[in-house]
Amino acid sequence: EKDIYILAIESSCDETAAAVVKNGREVLSNIISSQIELHKLYGGVVPEIASRKHIEKINPVIREALAEAGMKLGDMDAIGVTYGPGLVGALLVGVAAAKAISYAKNIPLVGVHHIEGHISANYIENKDLEPPFLGMVVSGGHTHLVMVEDYGKYEILGKTRDDAAGEAFDKVARAIGLGYPGGPKIDKLAKEGNPRAIAFPRAHVADAPLDFSFSGLKSSVLNYINSCEMKHQKICRADVAASFQAAVVDAIVSHTILAAKTYHIDKVALAGGVASNSALRQAMKEKCEAAGLKFYYPSPILCTDNAAMIGCAAYYEYLAGTRHGLDLNAVPNLKI
Ligand code: KG4
Ligand code: ZN
Repeated sequence: EKDIYILAIESSCDETAAAVVKNGREVLSNIISSQIELHKLYGGVVPEIASRKHIEKINPVIREALAEAGMKLGDMDAIGVTYGPGLVGALLVGVAAAKAISYAKNIPLVGVHHIEGHISANYIENKDLEPPFLGMVVSGGHTHLVMVEDYGKYEILGKTRDDAAGEAFDKVARAIGLGYPGGPKIDKLAKEGNPRAIAFPRAHVADAPLDFSFSGLKSSVLNYINSCEMKHQKICRADVAASFQAAVVDAIVSHTILAAKTYHIDKVALAGGVASNSALRQAMKEKCEAAGLKFYYPSPILCTDNAAMIGCAAYYEYLAGTRHGLDLNAVPNLKI
């Protein structure tokens, strides 16, 4: 059988990324140009700056991905590109580049949903993983519990009603002066703190046990900090980080286990930027083991935004016959 090579492009937020993926699960190159240093100055991603930087980086990143794979555009069977959800101006850069290549070289174009990409990151290092399984997607923009019924076939079982898990990490990190992006910094600082030092709330959404809510937790961390300041009490930042992180981890793990039991599924895969959190990985591993569930998670570099995961998702879409025309547009709030 003929090998299928896909050039994948991702530009939905603040990483400009391109990858070459062979037969869906073999990554020949995975180039990521991160804008973190640039956005750090502003404490978060500035959409206009992100778009401009994507324009600067997109061609060099694509060239590098092809060079590292030792291939040329003409060798590609398809161009996979994230077309939503994300920042519209950022998405447009990747979509325009993908369409230009598709048109110039007459290569099929396959638009990919960003969340489908995150979930597919699990296929790359776990060659045995196949649907059905339960996907827990935790990123800066999303907190979705997804039943992966088949390749390209998803059902959302639960989602956040307010902040995404990563967003909560970033906001709390800012409140305790850790800077952007907050997730990795809280992860590190929490190792020196006591997760039981402060009893932050575990939110439950009435009548929707698989939905999440993190804004109450975030407010309660802010209130704690304010009340300490008012009483001139010194705040132990490591304890705040560890206790906050424990509350987020508790919510994610308990919801996942509940969903697995409710839907009688024995495989669980974590995905998205927050999936690289060490406490979350550890707790998920322990709780899944205790519940008799097989637990999958990607390497940290495949958790945060990258194009290899988009290439993997694009491969299964390609096999299913998905083809997009030159009218493909960026869809900032694309539904899965
Ligand atoms: O998936 P991603 O790269 O972008 C989105 O699609 O949103 O996720 C970025 C998010 C940020 O909020 C970042 O703070 C969080 O993932 N993150 C982490 C860790 N590494 C990244 N959160 C907790 N612990 C980490 N180690
Ligand atoms: Zn993402």
